[in-house]
Amino acid sequence: MAIRTLDDLAAANRAIGVRVDINSPLTAAGGLADDARLRAHVDTLAELLAADARVAVLAHQGRPGGDEFARLERHADRLDALLDAPVSYCDATFSTGARDAVADLAPGEAVVLENTRFYSEEYMTFAPERAADTALVDGLAPALDAYVNDAFAAAHRSQPSLVGFPEVLPSYAGRVMEAELDALSGVADTPTPRTYVVGGAKVPDSVEVAAHALSHGLADNVLVTGVVANVFLAATGVDLGRASTDFIHERDYGTEIARAADLLAAHNDALHLPVDVAVERDGARCELSTDALPPAGDEAVCDIGSDTVDAYADVLADSETVVVNGPAGVFEDDLFADGTRGVFGAASEVEHSIVGGGDTAAAIRRFDITGFDHVSTGGGAAINLLTDADLPAVAALR
Ligand code: 3PG
Ligand code: MG
Repeated sequence: MAIRTLDDLAAANRAIGVRVDINSPLTAAGGLADDARLRAHVDTLAELLAADARVAVLAHQGRPGGDEFARLERHADRLDALLDAPVSYCDATFSTGARDAVADLAPGEAVVLENTRFYSEEYMTFAPERAADTALVDGLAPALDAYVNDAFAAAHRSQPSLVGFPEVLPSYAGRVMEAELDALSGVADTPTPRTYVVGGAKVPDSVEVAAHALSHGLADNVLVTGVVANVFLAATGVDLGRASTDFIHERDYGTEIARAADLLAAHNDALHLPVDVAVERDGARCELSTDALPPAGDEAVCDIGSDTVDAYADVLADSETVVVNGPAGVFEDDLFADGTRGVFGAASEVEHSIVGGGDTAAAIRRFDITGFDHVSTGGGAAINLLTDADLPAVAALR
């Protein structure tokens, strides 16, 4: 069944639970270090509020026991500033306090309910039917007329606030969810030649994206960068030196070297590996040809080199579509920012450009690169879509 969207929802005067993903990095003082995810949901929330909905915002922040496990008061303040409508905060999620806060909303007003993960069932995995029979859904659903899921970035979690409500309420995809599904599940319909850029430090995810794209004929080229490139170079027998080799093995990425070797054997023509890399030497960036590896002593391979950036830019200049997943190096360090800045800059000029989320989106904001057609708000959720894996929250809406 097709997923219903806000186009199908008569929102006026109705109490609508809107699940968003505003899980954000926090400052040491507990403030929001980055509000990109809040800004992403403004369209959905503003549209509902302008239609005179009474909006109850549901969201998580952090993980139980983690440093960023926090109340949503600051998030509510920030949404209040971002939206023309009044946004309040309620320190309850599904108790009488929460139901009363929803009941008290006037049309065109919103309340941010407390962090869903303050309550233990929300950090468990349930099938939708069972998720509907949890304290959260059971307690809050009676106060709501409808449910909107806009939390694409959490759609890979089968948790009550994400999969339970569609069992008991008319349910709809929000605008973020809709745009993400359109862009990330529509890759096969984009024009070719199609190039994937894989990188970052989450090697298993990136190798999976590359393997899926190659084995399904989605990728004409795969440009390999980041720690992923180190793993592929190791698969060709390059000695990366002690530091980079230890990094791979400390994370148990040894099996990824074997997967990389298999991919190279099957898809050698499509896979592009770095011809040079960058290390830090005497406090400066030092580029080495991959033929000149290993680097000296404890030097670690932290970026692709400029000849590689040029070669990759040539491939991108001939591409009609690019799918980018993961930065090219340790871009947070100025010494190792060139690879990511160069490759992302070239990718942003491709006619159709889609960017997976997480660290990739953070790098784009850092370098202020504009011109990408779609920058995902999701990390794991985007990987799932790019590899045709399950998204339980989307299945629940369907
Ligand atoms: C994310 O930041 O990846 C999403 O908000 C999901 O959070 P989680 O990985 O803690 O489930
Ligand atoms: Mg996460």
